[in-house]
Amino acid sequence: MNTTITATAKYIPEKILSNFDLEKIVDTTDDWIKSRTGITKRHIVQEGEATSDMCANIAKKLLKSSGKTPEEIDIIIIATSTPDHFVVSTAAIVQDKIGAINAWGYDLTAACTGFIFALETGARLIESGKYKNAIIIGADTMSSIIDYKDRNTCVIFGDGGGGVLIEQTDDDYGIIDSILKTDGSGNQFLTVPAGGSRKPASETTVKQRLHYVYQDGKTVFKYAVNRMSEVSKEIIEKNKLSSHDIKLFIPHQANQRIIDATARKCGLDLDQVFVNIDKYGNTTAGTIPIAIDEANKMNLLESGELLLLAAFGGGFTWGSMLIRWGKML
Ligand code: COA
Repeated sequence: MNTTITATAKYIPEKILSNFDLEKIVDTTDDWIKSRTGITKRHIVQEGEATSDMCANIAKKLLKSSGKTPEEIDIIIIATSTPDHFVVSTAAIVQDKIGAINAWGYDLTAACTGFIFALETGARLIESGKYKNAIIIGADTMSSIIDYKDRNTCVIFGDGGGGVLIEQTDDDYGIIDSILKTDGSGNQFLTVPAGGSRKPASETTVKQRLHYVYQDGKTVFKYAVNRMSEVSKEIIEKNKLSSHDIKLFIPHQANQRIIDATARKCGLDLDQVFVNIDKYGNTTAGTIPIAIDEANKMNLLESGELLLLAAFGGGFTWGSMLIRWGKML
């Protein structure tokens, strides 16, 4: 038995934050952002809108396009670094919002690699035979943890998310293989220093702006290119394929230059690589499922063709996943 994707969906908040808007807030320019990252705009939530709102919207779209009722859903896994609350999980809130009364679920945190980790987990649960389907979502409200006084980070990130419905199949398409990695020694290069049990929120942590994302951009850049290309090449070789066998490569959308360098190292041509970072920036766990949904809606993948995913994020975490595209409901 395999696990296959049978529906895809995304949610992008309406509100746009363009490079020109950012020029008015921090010392940056549209030219710098475009040339160093490839980003022209990103979307951010309205005041009061949270990660579970985005996820519930995505889950409802998945139900609609698959024709499933909320009661038929077995599992909900949400990859996010920006849950509505520490307690309770975003998955629990979404379960309630969509009326999936027979589902259990949880949140999974692996920063920008979160969606691939969640998809792997969901797929293996389904292959156990105990569950028929799962909703797997990657979504982040990065604007809730970004310092709009820090030009090193605020130009890169945006809000948004996407998701897939996965189900059992006896056909030979689906999630074929994955290589997943964690190297916690990289934790200091990309983190939110306060707000957890190490440094609980206090007047001092707020004054020191420790509740925002800190990153050492140059180090993260190098690791992202090297680690994503390593695991992508490894999974291609392990499955006795060549880069030409890959119909579509969806890398995590962190920086156009990271995407280009990774694709080059893997011997992939530009027309094999899906890119939408210009429109949304880095939506953390959201980038890959958003791209999967867009590629699906653009009919870029036919049944039987190979999709390769690769992600890198805080932790450090990274991984690749090989999928033989199946039939949508
Ligand atoms: N606007 C204008 N200038 C900026 C700027 C901005 N938004 N951000 C940085 N600069 C300046 C720096 O201060 C520096 O100036 P200096 O030379 O006078 O010191 C100069 O631009 C170059 O900075 P540098 O940090 O070398 O830029 P970079 O080319 O490495 O780009 C990032 C910075 C953050 C875009 C890039 O390192 C990156 O994308 N890193 C990976 C981030 C990432 O992927 N994070 C998520 C991981 S999943």
